[in-house]
Amino acid sequence: MSEAASHVEQLAEPVAEIERSGGSAAQAPTGPTEAATSSSKRPAPRYIAFMNQKGGVGKTTTTVNIGAALALSGRKVLMIDLDPQAHLTLHLGVEPENLEASVYDLLADENVSALEVVQQVRKRLSLLPAEVNLAGIESELAPAMVTGKAQRMLRQKCQPLLEAEAFDYVLIDCPPSLGLLTINALTLANEVIVPMQPHFLALQGLSKLLETVQLVRQSFNPQLTVAGVVLCMHESQTILAGEVLNDLTNFLEASRGTDVPWANAQLFQPPVRRNIKLAESPSFGKTIFDYAPDCHGASDYRKLAAALVAQQTGKSSA
Ligand SMILES: Nc1ncnc2c1ncn2[C@@H]1O[C@H](COP(=O)(O)OP(=O)(O)O)[C@@H](O)[C@H]1O
Ligand SMILES: [Mg+2]
Repeated sequence: MSEAASHVEQLAEPVAEIERSGGSAAQAPTGPTEAATSSSKRPAPRYIAFMNQKGGVGKTTTTVNIGAALALSGRKVLMIDLDPQAHLTLHLGVEPENLEASVYDLLADENVSALEVVQQVRKRLSLLPAEVNLAGIESELAPAMVTGKAQRMLRQKCQPLLEAEAFDYVLIDCPPSLGLLTINALTLANEVIVPMQPHFLALQGLSKLLETVQLVRQSFNPQLTVAGVVLCMHESQTILAGEVLNDLTNFLEASRGTDVPWANAQLFQPPVRRNIKLAESPSFGKTIFDYAPDCHGASDYRKLAAALVAQQTGKSSA
């Protein structure tokens, strides 16, 4: 049995769909902030897990920079660092060693609330930070897997924060595995975005990933869908990138009209070009918009964030 299947299968009864407020109006030109928060006109919040069990494919870079672009365009964003390596936390300029409380405490200690862990890191941008001890949480939570409590812990513990603050986007940076932390991300999320490098084994990894999404949808989260794939570190001139892209497009097209969670998944445009500024910015604790707002990388992530917003607008008017 796969790692993911064993995490999911322990659950007896599927959960009832958990309500997430409706709201379907198109984006107000000024962004859905302040005045809109209490109104039913506010678009439904989106909870997006950035997921790929392979490391180094661009998950953290994509989470940080799409999130920063959304915040700069007026959306209220929460980012959750679920990777014990704490790269997302560091990338936003927060030192994991100096934290009073992190996602580890949130998941390990029932007395800790997300309201105590959250930090405001930029304008309209909040963070639930990680530290290295998060690596131990999977074994600590394991005994609670039989009841499904362990797989729903993040969702349960984030609820007070999500009720207290009206986020437009909640972005979760997953660790490079399909273990219990990733299952928690998928149980909180309603959408998955797969950052991917056009590598020749990329599609093989994708089927395992999608199997996990399917299992979590069946057991914990019936509304979970795959929003799409973001190509990272793209080099359009290579033959390999062209072939992978072709296979991926064919794969997604073959799923249209079926009831798999990726039936409407898109290949987000544009692909993110390889750009040295994107690789440099994390060591300064800066997003690409802090570090080099005029580079290709900033331009690509700005456009991707716009594509993501447009996807929702398209959905709600459909
Ligand atoms: N488009 C890009 N161009 C150049 N370097 C990139 C790009 N995207 C990511 N990187 C770098 O590649 C490495 C892996 O990216 P990262 O986002 O940390 O992947 P993951 O979170 O999947 O492990 C990091 O050093 C990052 O700075
Ligand atoms: Mg990462």
